[in-house]
Amino acid sequence: MIVELKNITKIYADAKVPAVKNVSFGVQEGEILTLLGPSGCGKTTLLRLIAGLERPDSGQVIMQGKKMAASNCWVPPENRGVGMVFQDYALFPHLNVRDNIRFGLKNKDKTKNNQKVQEMIELVGLESHADKNPADLSGGQQQRVALARALVTDPILVLLDEPFSNLDMNLREKMRREVVHILRKSETPAVFVTHDQEEALSISDKIVVMNNGQIEQAGTPREIYELPIACFVASFVGQSNILGGTLGDDGKSVITELGTFAYPHEHNRKPGEDVMISIRPDGFELVEEGPIKGIIKEIAYKGGVVDLIIDLTNKDFHQELLVHIHPKYRVEEGDKVSFELLPHFLTMVGECKPAI
Ligand SMILES: Nc1ncnc2c1ncn2[C@@H]1O[C@H](COP(=O)(O)OP(=O)(O)OP(=O)(O)O)[C@@H](O)[C@H]1O
Ligand SMILES: [Mg+2]
Repeated sequence: MIVELKNITKIYADAKVPAVKNVSFGVQEGEILTLLGPSGCGKTTLLRLIAGLERPDSGQVIMQGKKMAASNCWVPPENRGVGMVFQDYALFPHLNVRDNIRFGLKNKDKTKNNQKVQEMIELVGLESHADKNPADLSGGQQQRVALARALVTDPILVLLDEPFSNLDMNLREKMRREVVHILRKSETPAVFVTHDQEEALSISDKIVVMNNGQIEQAGTPREIYELPIACFVASFVGQSNILGGTLGDDGKSVITELGTFAYPHEHNRKPGEDVMISIRPDGFELVEEGPIKGIIKEIAYKGGVVDLIIDLTNKDFHQELLVHIHPKYRVEEGDKVSFELLPHFLTMVGECKPAI
């Protein structure tokens, strides 16, 4: 394990509630982990705790098996071997690219330093910009300088706090791919912070979803999207239809007002138990004759996908569903449609509390 957080709690002076409460997770060798959650949920606080810029009130930070922070121990940031990339890049305006990157090096050997800086310039592809000052670089280029500066000391881990939020949409996608490529090439594990769910899904090996200072769920992007077990994850990471149901007597089906559906996933509920279920809008297939029938109430065309609000209301119950369909289907408001459910997009979720 590169870094391990064990039961970390952090309460800022004068704060009534902890910013981070009993949080535990680990980053493995070569892994890209993302902390994902709404504003104020404690993401930056966790990065600062790992870097040594904050002390935990309880719990431990362990790096490569050595204690960095615990009740009886404290290792300052400069001795932790962690690189940081901040949202605003924090470059020195009066230094050129080369000197910005060189800044973090403590080694006195000039030749070695020059060689290392050159290696970083090549790694991030800034060979033709090495003598420019930050003001003469684009946002994406400044970002690459910040990354090179974080990597030049061969850190055991890089921490990146919302590194793409200052870039426009197109550049953001490109920089995401580039930064991940550079981290993979240098085999440096990383912890990203973001509140952008699509970004988290696309760059991470593992996602830790936070809410209100606590972990709601941790898993691979596929687990987080397809198998949300926390109600908050179902609605914060992507969208979801949340409905009530009952677990069938065989324990392998759920009975809902939409019908009875196979439940192939593991769980620890008892047959007959009332449950809340989440169905992703991607879990429906438009078919000629399917068990779920309704009328299209609203259509939102989004290019690669079309969002439909389907009204299933009949005399017995009232229900609307959000459904994604492929844009190849030409449908109109008021059309009668029917769907089948793909079972792997249906999960049982825990209690649904309002997000804080
Ligand atoms: N230095 C501080 N002193 C007091 N309270 C703080 C301090 N820094 C953060 N907080 C509080 O701790 C909580 C968590 O803040 P944090 O900055 O970790 O959230 P975040 O998830 O990074 O949010 P954002 O997405 O807005 O950056 C918030 O309620 C915030 O107001
Ligand atoms: Mg933050």
